[in-house]
Amino acid sequence: MANDTWNSSLYDQKHSFVYKYGEDVLGLLEPKPGERILDVGCGTGHLTAQIAEAGATVVGLDSSAAMIDTAQAAYPHLKFVQADASDFSFDEPFDAVFSNAALHWVLQAEAAVKCMSHALRSGGRLVIECGGKGNIRNILTALNQAMIELEQGEMERIWVFHSISEYATLLEKYGLEVNQAFLFDRPTKLEGEDGMLNWLRMFGTVRTQKLSDEMREKAFALANEQLRDVQYIDGHWYADYRRLRISARKL
Ligand code: BEZ
Repeated sequence: MANDTWNSSLYDQKHSFVYKYGEDVLGLLEPKPGERILDVGCGTGHLTAQIAEAGATVVGLDSSAAMIDTAQAAYPHLKFVQADASDFSFDEPFDAVFSNAALHWVLQAEAAVKCMSHALRSGGRLVIECGGKGNIRNILTALNQAMIELEQGEMERIWVFHSISEYATLLEKYGLEVNQAFLFDRPTKLEGEDGMLNWLRMFGTVRTQKLSDEMREKAFALANEQLRDVQYIDGHWYADYRRLRISARKL
């Protein structure tokens, strides 16, 4: 993320689904003992630690100092590096690069693919999951509507949600062969009656940085009410997530 506004404890307390769903993606990675694996956008490091538990030597990379500090405190025996996903390099190649729920924050997607490809040895694998085309469409529509109603102009653009063909084209350009690609809806249950408001506060703040705190709360409250019709189902809030999941191999 460009500006480090992450609240790593709110992230862990209320948004633990981020890394819990990531366990599915780990199944696709199949980390093996002795492998060197890079976890791009490692957040608070929980999946990085699970990769290490499989016997791999893992490095967690995240652009947020707050996330890296939390990860390092929780897992002092593991290596974490603060770096931008679109601007990093390592001396030694990796057997695999993994990323869960992070790459949609990287607007310079091509630069990120280039870095990830360069980090892999020939034959190494890339396993990623992130928000895909159409992700959080209803949330974005409601937030935009709230900004218009409050005459606050446009939201800042900080996420990018690619289609399979857009991302596969980038991967192929940088020497990766795509073996599996999926774009699928995954409505994601949010915790409690304030689930959507907490989501907006956690993730929407950085898109509305130019607003005063008071105006931002108004925007979130308006968006929350608009979303109630479509995203509050049988007494639970859901985020309208859509995942892009890809597995590829470096040629
Ligand atoms: C996602 O995982 O899809 C996501 C999370 C935070 C902000 C935007 C998208």
